[in-house]
Amino acid sequence: MTRSNAPAYQSGFANHFATEAVDGALPVGRNSPQRPALGLYAEQLSGTAFTAPRDHNLRSWLYRLRPSAQHGPYQPFAQGRVRSGPFTETPPNPNRMRWDPLPMPDQPTDWVEGLTTYGGNGCADSGTGVGVHLYVANRSMVDRVFYSADGELLIVPQQGTQRFVTEMGLIEAAPGHIVVIPRGVRFRVEVDGEARGYVCENYGAPFRLPDLGPIGSNGLANPRDFETPVAWFEDVDRPTQCVQKYGGQLWATTFDHSPLDVVAWHGNYAPCRYDTARFNTIGTVSFDHPDPSIFTVLTSPSDTPGTANCDFVIFPPRWMVAEDTFRPPWFHRNVMSEFMGLIFGEYDAKAGGFAPGGASLHNRMSGHGPDQASWDGATKAELKPHKIENTLAFMFETRMPIRTTQWAEQTPLMQLDYDDCWTGFQKGAAG
Ligand SMILES: [Fe+2]
Repeated sequence: MTRSNAPAYQSGFANHFATEAVDGALPVGRNSPQRPALGLYAEQLSGTAFTAPRDHNLRSWLYRLRPSAQHGPYQPFAQGRVRSGPFTETPPNPNRMRWDPLPMPDQPTDWVEGLTTYGGNGCADSGTGVGVHLYVANRSMVDRVFYSADGELLIVPQQGTQRFVTEMGLIEAAPGHIVVIPRGVRFRVEVDGEARGYVCENYGAPFRLPDLGPIGSNGLANPRDFETPVAWFEDVDRPTQCVQKYGGQLWATTFDHSPLDVVAWHGNYAPCRYDTARFNTIGTVSFDHPDPSIFTVLTSPSDTPGTANCDFVIFPPRWMVAEDTFRPPWFHRNVMSEFMGLIFGEYDAKAGGFAPGGASLHNRMSGHGPDQASWDGATKAELKPHKIENTLAFMFETRMPIRTTQWAEQTPLMQLDYDDCWTGFQKGAAG
């Protein structure tokens, strides 16, 4: 039996949800009763160590048709272009980099087959850093599911609507949405035509909402706008390949059934989606350009307060009203490293070359900022209030430099003339 219901969601970020696809499947008053209802099997899925402080403790209880343990050995699976931390394929490279959009495949390719790693930092085993991937797909995963044991997946669709059929429910996402799938949660991706997007594979502390400080109790991404699926399962007795990323390698085994068979679950460790159109964007109403941290949607903290393992930052449509101010992002050199992507529209610091589906990388302390054309325009513009519309760029900003993969450095998508966008500036007149 397969349930093909439309996705349905529960509101809130990492709330303690309780949901059942069949009445009576969810135990009341205990997690692991002697005999769970309906002959189901109870399983705890831990996202943090058992003894993590309550504020940060993440776990869910799953009630499923069969135990997750019911499978044979994993065997190595075709690695494709998937790479993982520690990133050692290329020497550290301080150069600014930019890539044309990742092209759609000319062969049938599903989400797993279309994963392409651009770089990353840290180490999956030790739980630090991130992997940065793009994906393209033109067919759905069929009788195949995937999970990463190495990290949580923050997925940023850029083209096409994608349906994430997860152990814990159905999520539909289009460009403008993000999807967060916790480490270990299995899912398949169904596409309707060609699909493309970005992935931050977070090896570190799970993403959480940033503190708001003086902003107060509202603003940026509001918790209730995160949507977690209600329980959904399929009862499919057909061999299903389960691909996992473990220790940087892809492995696969075959279940004799679909492992997406969780009939009910409760807990705060679950996938979710978020519509960035709901982001309460905050900026200056006087002058100057606030740091882009004001646009943080989710943060993966490190052991150093205020210094993120990774921040997920968006540059959404917004009003620009600052007086006597260079309004686009200024020139800067950042101790953090910045990987950027563009979902749609144009990014206000670049007049060309940064296309939807493309990417740029500005590593630690590299000088970057507006290109000549953007600088010319912004320094001469009459500063009336105006709205930046129809654009959505984002950044994975991380405390450690991002090392690129061999593929990313050698692909013809790399724009070898990227430096040229800053060559034409005239000398200042103070000499
Ligand atoms: Fe930057």
